[in-house]
Amino acid sequence: MKTITTIADTQSLAESFRREGKRIGFVPTMGFLHEGHLSLMRRARDENDIVVVSIFVNPTQFGPKEDLDRYPRDAEGDRNKCESTGADILFTPGVKEMYPEKPEVFVTVEDVSDRLEGAIRPGHFRGVATVVAKLFHIVKPHRAYFGQKDFQQCAVIRRMVKGLNLDVDVAVLPTVREPDGLAMSSRNSYLNADERRAATVLFRALSTARTLFLEGTKTPEKLKKTAKRIIEEEPEMIVDYVEIVDRETLAQVTTPGREMTLLVAAKIGKTRLIDNIML
Ligand code: PAF
Repeated sequence: MKTITTIADTQSLAESFRREGKRIGFVPTMGFLHEGHLSLMRRARDENDIVVVSIFVNPTQFGPKEDLDRYPRDAEGDRNKCESTGADILFTPGVKEMYPEKPEVFVTVEDVSDRLEGAIRPGHFRGVATVVAKLFHIVKPHRAYFGQKDFQQCAVIRRMVKGLNLDVDVAVLPTVREPDGLAMSSRNSYLNADERRAATVLFRALSTARTLFLEGTKTPEKLKKTAKRIIEEEPEMIVDYVEIVDRETLAQVTTPGREMTLLVAAKIGKTRLIDNIML
């Protein structure tokens, strides 16, 4: 595996892979890799000739009071994990390489970015769309891999790709969970033992709502109410939202239909957790 830190080297390597007719699979990450990331890398390995992984903690997607400074990092561990999944290129640019000047060009995906996470974290999806667009231009992938855990992020990226006619196929793979159901996330490392135990309530709430749905309760309001009640049984959990949305637009669904996803976000201590389940 080759580690590269410059945009120019990554671009010229990507260009030569393309000239040789090789398919490039790309897994963009912010590091502190877990099984969720590794499942994306393994899929990329299965489906492509070349696998590129990027690790870049992107400042433009963090709000001024968010956790940019304390975001967990493990350069050495991440390198080993990338190597163990058979990645070919690890792209690890510094902030000055990605943003040599104060950024003045941004990608905004309207509507889908404004709801839910976007309403609570203004500017977050503008930062995500901007860095992913930049990374796509640097890595030149045929296919890029994202986890369903960040459901709204996946919708934003899909719509960006469509809206800008980017020639990249977006693959979304299922959320990887701990044995007790907690969705894997680099931010789980912030949880203390009590918070970690309480955090399992999110998946319990989602699974209960899905079971009710499969058994015949189709009304979004009833399903949301049940999920919220279950989360609130954990006194430390502060619910940000429990919402049922259309999978493509992320618009709130009020009448039962197909293609619905239940999304939850809650805070425990200083940590925000998100999760979702397709109904
Ligand atoms: O999901 C993430 O880790 C990040 O939002 C991404 C897609 C790598 C962009 O910084």
